[in-house]
Amino acid sequence: MPIRSLSVEKIRNISALSFEPSERINIIYGANGSGKTSLLESLHFLGLTRSFRTNQFRYLISASESQSLVFSTIDAMGNGQVKPLGVSRDVSGEVNIRYGGNSIDLSELAGLIPLQLINTDTFELLEGSPATRRQFVDWGAFHSETAFIQLWRAFKRVLQQRNSLLKCGKIDPVLRQIWDQEFILYAEQLTSMRQRYIDLLMPDFEEILLRLVGDLAITLKFSAGWDKKRPLDELLSENLLRDLKQGFTSIGPQRADLKVKSEGVSAAERLSRGQKKLVVSALKLAQGALFHRLSNRPCVYLIDDLPSELDERHSRLFCEFLEQTNNQCFITCVEPDALSRFWKADTAVAYFNIEAGQLVQTH
Ligand SMILES: Nc1ncnc2c1ncn2[C@@H]1O[C@H](COP(=O)(O)OP(=O)(O)OP(=O)(O)O)[C@@H](O)[C@H]1O
Ligand SMILES: [Mg+2]
Repeated sequence: MPIRSLSVEKIRNISALSFEPSERINIIYGANGSGKTSLLESLHFLGLTRSFRTNQFRYLISASESQSLVFSTIDAMGNGQVKPLGVSRDVSGEVNIRYGGNSIDLSELAGLIPLQLINTDTFELLEGSPATRRQFVDWGAFHSETAFIQLWRAFKRVLQQRNSLLKCGKIDPVLRQIWDQEFILYAEQLTSMRQRYIDLLMPDFEEILLRLVGDLAITLKFSAGWDKKRPLDELLSENLLRDLKQGFTSIGPQRADLKVKSEGVSAAERLSRGQKKLVVSALKLAQGALFHRLSNRPCVYLIDDLPSELDERHSRLFCEFLEQTNNQCFITCVEPDALSRFWKADTAVAYFNIEAGQLVQTH
């Protein structure tokens, strides 16, 4: 299982803590302000060098300290080979990542611990801008196709070049043709990867949704960012005047979206709060299930305040589903009783109480 041991130093109200998590289900409970979300943030920092609560790293570092550090031992490939992984970052933003005694970069790190986060911000997957949903699709494409990251970087570079030419207000036709050819090449490839991923994800999503919520009609539809029935070069030419006026490219993969609908209406407008939580959770759990099938590696799930918004029956269904997957889960809640009844006797469930940033395993 991915994370065998974890030490956290100087993250929010956690000055220093160490523990050995269960390979399956970890329940972290404690009063408001005790440090539950901070512990999940520490795991997120370990996997991605950043917080999910702030873009300004200095707020994550404990007050009057200058550097955060998370150290772990992990079995990244699930083959029993445990290696040390340490991530530190200081107030200036300088990041240091060491894995198995070597320095590695962020994209290598992202491949080591496939993290899935479910918290109140996850509602953004339905309610937020298309950028959030693109990120969701790209997480899957990144983890399922090794060529994705290079392609995504190449496309981003071409888009930036094209946009900087557009910003000048006029564009040399020969230059435009060169950049458009590259733009189209990468746009088509990127879009095929994204579409392939959504096609693969759909059956998992439908099955998990049925288990978590029952008969709730939800449709997912990937939208490429332009009218796919027409050639992209034609559309780029048609939009050129508008793009020159705006100074950016108005169609393409940078405008892709994943439309989530319930009975033909946007799920964000139609569903109740609890239903939304279950739908976004089903999306994230489907990603984990598909990732596991494709790579034979489980995900690490960070689930902040699992019982919130859910009634007892749905909390139970959620836990029962988590129990049947192979993922390593870190679940927070205020009262441990809210979740303790749902697990089978032979499931490896560990309970940790956190108080003022100090963690104690209780059972
Ligand atoms: N940079 C920081 N340095 C020190 N303490 C901090 C820092 N940032 C936040 N805190 C404090 O850390 C504590 C833990 O916050 P956290 O959000 O982890 O609590 P929580 O257990 O998730 O609470 P809740 O149940 O309300 O969600 C809070 O008291 C907060 O004020
Ligand atoms: Mg919290």
